Amino acid sequence: MSTSNRNAVRRSSTEIAVNDVMREFAFSDVDFRSLAKLAHDHAGIVLQESKRNMVYGRLSRRLRVLQINTFRDYRKYLATHERELESFINSLSTNHTKFFREAHHFDHLCGNVAVPYTKADGHATSGRMRIWSAGCSTGEEPYSIAAVLNREISDIERCDVRILATDIDTDVLAKAARGVYAANAADDVPAAYRSFFEVRKSNECAAHVFIDHDVLKLITLRQLNLLRPWPFKGLFDAIFCRNVMIYFDDATKAALVERFTQQIKPGGWLYIGHSESLIGAHRGLELVGSTIYRRVA
Ligand SMILES: C[S@@+](CC[C@H](N)C(=O)[O-])C[C@H]1O[C@@H](n2cnc3c(N)ncnc32)[C@H](O)[C@@H]1O
Repeated sequence: MSTSNRNAVRRSSTEIAVNDVMREFAFSDVDFRSLAKLAHDHAGIVLQESKRNMVYGRLSRRLRVLQINTFRDYRKYLATHERELESFINSLSTNHTKFFREAHHFDHLCGNVAVPYTKADGHATSGRMRIWSAGCSTGEEPYSIAAVLNREISDIERCDVRILATDIDTDVLAKAARGVYAANAADDVPAAYRSFFEVRKSNECAAHVFIDHDVLKLITLRQLNLLRPWPFKGLFDAIFCRNVMIYFDDATKAALVERFTQQIKPGGWLYIGHSESLIGAHRGLELVGSTIYRRVA
């Protein structure tokens, strides 16, 4: 057997130990548990043992940037530099999203929120509509909502219609604010809404998707940690909180659903992610479709 083959065999038979020895930064059990506790206490994010390598990989970038050599020192840094908490949470949040993800929610929004709004008397002068995308990530969800409302409500610029898009992660909010995405990002956008997602080249750069200005201007982006108090005065016609609670434990999820319920107008809607189920029956919410709930009066 050649030397390289012998080494390969040795590596695979002691994979776990080798992985630990070969790590660029020392990362102990205490480091993992203490960082996981911080993510849970601050953002509600649950990091099971199976996420250990993910935590190491995502936070290693911070250690390199800060020129810190061990996770023990990074923990000390976090404890003494309050601002690092933002980068810590940004690194650990999972932000996967796409335009018109779970398309049936947008059909429902169109038929049950946008269309009734256009039929209500005097909607242009008095009708207030508020939608909240809670955990909006890089913006694909609120821009999909905005495209639906824009297409259906022909005089929307004269109406009091706004979409609030919030996330804890400031990096994704910055990307959402730019409103520019990879050229293939709009591939799954239904044909009826394609015109709001223009694929074009800017300067010498490759083609990108640019969000139409009329859609952009319906959105207000804000940083908000869902676990902290919410600064809202009015109620929402609909709340989207999809693929966010999946990272929370049952107690956090139940408390959040209770707060969402109080924040929705009677008759308004709560949309949650396809793999999320509300634990038990919730007072004030009625299941009306796949992952769609209605606030009962
Ligand atoms: C997987 S993305 C979901 C994006 C979009 N809602 C969707 O379904 O496509 C989850 C988002 O929840 C955000 N998030 C996680 N914990 C949060 C918290 N405590 N407060 C606010 N946002 C949070 C993350 O930053 C991330 O952008």
